Amino acid sequence: MAISFEGQVAVVTGAGGGLGRAYAIDLARRGAKVVVNDLGGDPAGEGENRSPAQKVVDEIKAAGGEAVPNYDSVASYDGGFNIVKTAIDTWGRLDVVICNAGILRDVAFHNMSEDDWDKVFGVHIKGSFTVLRAAWPVFRQQAYGRVVLTTSSSGIYGQFGQANYGAAKTGMLGLMNVLKQEGAKYNVMVNTVAPVAGTRLTQQVMPQEMVDKLKPEFVVPAVVYMASNENHDSGYVIEAGAGNFNRAAIVKGPGIRPGMDDLKDAEWVEQNWAAITSLEGAEPQWRTGQSEAQHKAETK
Ligand SMILES: NC(=O)c1ccc[n+]([C@@H]2O[C@H](COP(=O)([O-])OP(=O)(O)OC[C@H]3O[C@@H](n4cnc5c(N)ncnc54)[C@H](O)[C@@H]3O)[C@@H](O)[C@H]2O)c1
Repeated sequence: MAISFEGQVAVVTGAGGGLGRAYAIDLARRGAKVVVNDLGGDPAGEGENRSPAQKVVDEIKAAGGEAVPNYDSVASYDGGFNIVKTAIDTWGRLDVVICNAGILRDVAFHNMSEDDWDKVFGVHIKGSFTVLRAAWPVFRQQAYGRVVLTTSSSGIYGQFGQANYGAAKTGMLGLMNVLKQEGAKYNVMVNTVAPVAGTRLTQQVMPQEMVDKLKPEFVVPAVVYMASNENHDSGYVIEAGAGNFNRAAIVKGPGIRPGMDDLKDAEWVEQNWAAITSLEGAEPQWRTGQSEAQHKAETK
C-alpha cells in the first residue's frame, strides 16, 4: 500500500534546496503538511535569505500541497522552538522532524579556527538539539513521532579536511542512540540517514557531471520511509544515494574476557591484540550492555 502522510505535519530543516527540498516535496506529495525551514545562508553558513524556503513552499502549493515557510536558524535555541511553534500554530500537531540543515567549512586540521569548529557544531549538533528539544514534549504528549537525523560518511569513515564536520556529523549517532531509548516508550522512532547527493554542498568537492547525476531524489525513499508510520525500527543508520541503500552500524566485537583475578599488563594486550580487535561475530548494540538481538528478543 502507498505510504501516506495524510493528516500528519512535518518539519524539514534546511529545506530551501538540495536534499531538504526533495524530502519536503515528497512528504507534501504524500499528504503531509510541511514546515519548510531554511535560513538561506551560503554553504559556509554566512548570510540570510528568505527566498529559498519561500520558493519551495510555492512549489509545494503549486502542486496542490500544503506548506509554510520558516526562516529561523536551527543553531539558535529560540529558533528551534520557533520552527516547532510554526507547525503547532499552523496545524496543531507535529509528527515528523527531519534534521537536515547543514553547512561545510572544509580546512585541514592544522589550519582550523575556533569559528570553523563552532559554526559547524552550531548548525549540525546544536541545530538538531534545538528543534528536537522543542518537538520532544509534543511527541511524548501525542505518543507519536518520527525523527530522521543526518550524518555523513565523512564522519562515519573519515574525510581529509573535515575534522569539524566529521566530528559533528558523528555526534548525530550519539544523539540518536540516546533518543531512540528515551523515545521508545512514546512510539518515537529516531533514525539517521547518511546521504550522498549532488547539491551545492558537494558541488565544492565533486565534478559538475557527478553533481548532475547524483540526484537528491535517490536519497528520498530511505528518508521518507524512516519518517513514516510504517517504520517501527529505531536507531538505524542508512546510507542512501547514487543508487545504493545499506545499513551502517557501530558494532561490538566479542573480544576476550580474562576476568579480574589478576591484572594484565601492556605486554599481555600486545600478545592478545588480534583477539581483542577481532570483529568476527561482532554485533550492533541497543544500549550499553544489551545487544540489538537481545533487545529485539525481549520486546517481541
Ligand atoms: N549532499 C551530500 O552528499 C551529503 C553527504 C553527507 C551529508 N549531507 C548532509 O545533508 C544535509 C543537506 O545537505 P545538502 O547537500 O542538501 O546541502 P545544501 O546546502 O543544498 O542544503 C543545506 C541547507 O541547510 C540550510 N541551512 C544551513 N544552515 C542553516 C541554519 N542554521 N538554519 C536553517 N537552515 C540552514 C542551507 O541554507 C541549505 O539550504 C546536510 O546536513 C549535509 O551535511 C549531504
